[in-house]
Amino acid sequence: MDLILRENAFLGETHIVTGAAQGIGFAVAQSLALHGAQVAMVDLDQRRVEEAAGQVEGAAVKPIAIAANVSQEDDVVAAVGKVLEETGQINGVVNVAGITRDTRITKKSYDDFNLVMSVHLGGTFLFTREVANQHWHPLFKENGNQPLDDAVNRFIVNFSSVSAQNGNVGQVDYTAAKGAIESVTRTTAREYSGYRVRVNAIAPGPVNTPMLAGVGEQGIEAMKKTTLLGKVAEPHELAATVVGMACPMVSGYTTGQVFAANGGMYMA
Ligand SMILES: NC(=O)c1ccc[n+]([C@@H]2O[C@H](COP(=O)([O-])OP(=O)(O)OC[C@H]3O[C@@H](n4cnc5c(N)ncnc54)[C@H](O)[C@@H]3O)[C@@H](O)[C@H]2O)c1
Repeated sequence: MDLILRENAFLGETHIVTGAAQGIGFAVAQSLALHGAQVAMVDLDQRRVEEAAGQVEGAAVKPIAIAANVSQEDDVVAAVGKVLEETGQINGVVNVAGITRDTRITKKSYDDFNLVMSVHLGGTFLFTREVANQHWHPLFKENGNQPLDDAVNRFIVNFSSVSAQNGNVGQVDYTAAKGAIESVTRTTAREYSGYRVRVNAIAPGPVNTPMLAGVGEQGIEAMKKTTLLGKVAEPHELAATVVGMACPMVSGYTTGQVFAANGGMYMA
């Protein structure tokens, strides 16, 4: 299959993907499963996430579907516990879940601001903390508080956005959350280095998903023109980048970094 970068790259591994019922999260879950991972797909609604899990093709191991609100501490604690109960391990987490409530600062309610922050930033923090608290830190302790040099693949991929750099109008909450997620990525990389977890973020430009549909056709055409590649990305293109970030053969010496996948819309 032409979507495979390396056959069975993740066989025997468990990966959590949040926001996996549609869009980029679904494509990421599909790609990781196609590369052999047992994927735990997390999204808000049990029926939607089960349907999405049923649509994953070519998985060696059937994905697990888990309903959880990533901004709710109890949900995240329970979701991570369930994954460990069912699979016994967690190798990687891809924090994709996200929402927008676009409107200019003067019209933005504090409730919407907090909601956007809590889904993106809160959700990323909670999964980052819980996977370590329930799994990676206990392994580190069992190892006499010594670095886990056991050659097991461990990673976190967080979702930022080009808008963190670009300061998109109407997105003060979203851009703040994405900028903060980039900072969280660097701090986590340092704090989790003893667990030998590679922690990186991806900052996409516009991607053809339901989230982008809100921008309208004219807006999408305008966005295409601001990229050097003259297009909006398809979710599978981002998913392939995530596979590379999850795969130690590709990114084994990369941690604490933000990978810009934006078609040349912004160059740091
Ligand atoms: N589409 C783009 O152009 C674009 C560009 C840059 C970055 N991103 C980022 O990529 C990620 C995915 O975006 P997308 O375009 O696939 O969005 P999408 O709206 O298509 O999908 C988001 C998914 O997250 C889920 N979700 C929302 N809130 C949740 C919560 N509280 N708990 C659990 N699940 C929740 C939704 O139900 C949905 O299935 C987001 O973090 C987004 O900010 C998207």
